[in-house]
Amino acid sequence: MTLAIVNCAQVVTLAGPARPRVRPEMRELGIVAPGALLIRDGLIERVASAQEIQKLIDRDCEVVDAGGRIVLPGFVDAHTHPVFAGTRVDEFEQRIKGATYQEIAARGGGIQSTVNQTRAASLDELVAAGKRYAAWFLRGGTTTIEAKSGYGLSLEDEVKMLRAIRRLDQETPLRYVPTFLGAHSVPPEYRARRSEYVSLLVDEMLPQIAQQKLAEFCDVFCEQNVFTTDEAWQILSAARCHGLGLRIHADQLSLGGGAKLAAELETITADHLEHTDAEGIAALKTAGVQPVLLPGSVYALGSSHYPAARQMIDAGLAVVLATDFNPGSSPTPSMLTILSLAATQMKLTPAEAITAATINAAYSLKRGDQLGSLEPGKVADLVIHDTGDYRELAYFFGVNHAWQVYAGGKRI
Ligand code: NIG
Ligand code: FE
Repeated sequence: MTLAIVNCAQVVTLAGPARPRVRPEMRELGIVAPGALLIRDGLIERVASAQEIQKLIDRDCEVVDAGGRIVLPGFVDAHTHPVFAGTRVDEFEQRIKGATYQEIAARGGGIQSTVNQTRAASLDELVAAGKRYAAWFLRGGTTTIEAKSGYGLSLEDEVKMLRAIRRLDQETPLRYVPTFLGAHSVPPEYRARRSEYVSLLVDEMLPQIAQQKLAEFCDVFCEQNVFTTDEAWQILSAARCHGLGLRIHADQLSLGGGAKLAAELETITADHLEHTDAEGIAALKTAGVQPVLLPGSVYALGSSHYPAARQMIDAGLAVVLATDFNPGSSPTPSMLTILSLAATQMKLTPAEAITAATINAAYSLKRGDQLGSLEPGKVADLVIHDTGDYRELAYFFGVNHAWQVYAGGKRI
């Protein structure tokens, strides 16, 4: 029932105000060094010095010696596409030889290639593939992910994907927050009559998915040749009427007004933002939208066009970092890799990157009251990393620092 973790060089608590952190707050990690924790019934009871925790340890308490390592909250990965069949490793090779992501999509590959494979897969097959990826997330120190549908693009196949996400949440120790992304692409059977696909999303898919409580959020891929800002407005407005939280893929491959639309709709997040300009950043600030930055997709597409993360932090936006794990643009489940990219390519300090990957991410999923920091009453999702200094998480890259991973106080 009780667990004590003692002998920690640093307990990186992220304790602070009960809201997403901005500007210098992003550098305040609430470190207790050296420190120890007491966990009772799956919740954090106390973080304090070793002597203080020692006084609370009774005979029934299990004691874990962290051996001078550090403890962090589990990473919260607020943007992933973790349910799909097959891979796109053939397209990976085509891109190495010079084809672009958009060219591959225009000739029927890209998202559509994963849609074809996912439609052909059974629910059980999707769950089996998803379990392999769940193990990857957990091993890398991630304990919660936001999980999008979007490779079904029909009522039946989108529901199949969201049921797979529900089963993965129940059958693995990883926590899944489901997002409906039926507006990921216009499927080929609707290309000549796209307004009918928007009607299908608004009049049939959204009502059923909301009624069956299969998703908490709705997302739209707003981009040239995908969904226009007008279409995104219609879909997201309808989603809001069904009580879903709003997210949007915005300005990923071009500056297309996605960030401004996010601000107009006051979505919870605007994601990607590689091409968002100063005006877009100001609009996000005014509307209180959280940017979710995905450097893994910039890296894996062989681009160097990273989002203007520094300007966003300096403007006071509560930045979030995520993997964008998916088979096309970002085949990594590793938040540690994302911390390295954020530091080296986007000039976030290790502390800012950790805040963006934990507490700010938890707020972007409406879980800030339960997850993302090690404070009394919060869920004991935590990771012992094999280092004595949190900055090394972003510094030594290509290393899996996660040594022991706990979800709800149970070791995985
Ligand atoms: O976030 N941009 C759209 N969606 C994904 C890519 C999905 C895919 O290529 O399968 C992204 O990068
Ligand atoms: Fe994405």
